[in-house]
Amino acid sequence: MPELAVPSESTTGLTTTRAPFIEDAQRSGKLFITQPYELYSEANHAAWNTLYKRMLPRWKIYANEHFLEGISSLCLSPEAVPRLSDVNRFLAPLTGFEAKPVSGYVPAFVFFDCLRARKFPTTITIRDGSRLDYLPEPDLFHDVAGHVPMHTDTAFAEALVKFGECARTAVQLTSGIQDEHLRAQRLTSIIKAMARFFWFTIEFGLMRGRGRDLKVYGSGLLSSFGEIEHAIESPQVQRFPIQLEWAINQGFEIHHYQPLLFIVDSFDHLFNLVDRLERWMREGKLNNVAPGEPEVNEADLLSFIHADVVD
Ligand SMILES: [Fe+2]
Repeated sequence: MPELAVPSESTTGLTTTRAPFIEDAQRSGKLFITQPYELYSEANHAAWNTLYKRMLPRWKIYANEHFLEGISSLCLSPEAVPRLSDVNRFLAPLTGFEAKPVSGYVPAFVFFDCLRARKFPTTITIRDGSRLDYLPEPDLFHDVAGHVPMHTDTAFAEALVKFGECARTAVQLTSGIQDEHLRAQRLTSIIKAMARFFWFTIEFGLMRGRGRDLKVYGSGLLSSFGEIEHAIESPQVQRFPIQLEWAINQGFEIHHYQPLLFIVDSFDHLFNLVDRLERWMREGKLNNVAPGEPEVNEADLLSFIHADVVD
């Protein structure tokens, strides 16, 4: 592992633990920002380099073929933090998707609605070189190396857009409910179902590869040096063909390796699952999903309640 420089006061960089540029943006209420590339410190570039180089051999073994093609078509450099404008130059012609820099947490409706518009809210800070292995919150490596390469695949991109449309459907279905308590309760259940689906597919999904062997397509796995191997190799993990009714009622915990993972056959299969998720939402089948994780926070609920959706 290369030695990482200690940032001086003048090169604090854009680190998840300290980034004055991001703190300023948050203070002034700016969610969508630009990527001030010149602010990355040597330590930030070194962290990217270390993360990328040690993941590459594991991606070759465990990642699905669409991801590997995506990495190559985005021309990501192992040497330095990628410029999102460069990434988008390669990405947009393939699927219309675009990595859009954000200053921090994006409320659920806003996040999902960005996907509908083929924009992926992207964290621009990168983890500190001293904690490369575990990070509860997303960082640039998770978002750009874990998510964005999947957005180069047409079928995957369509599934993601369809998922984004589900958020609008949820608002349309609940906006006429006069009883505030009932509306909040129904939205909470629908958001919980959507969050679980997203978790067990986009973040932690497995799929059958060409030779019917298991591969990883979930970004939480693709950006984790330890868990990508654990997900495929460990006898501690239960792996099942995905069942929608199970996934939307299954709680999960974020602070340890996932003990339960679901398998899709293809991204067309994934798209059909999202299509069914939306149909079930319309039929009321998401109105009372099982309680438990994740808890839906106030900001996420309000983002749906205040969403401006024209029929
Ligand atoms: Fe993620």
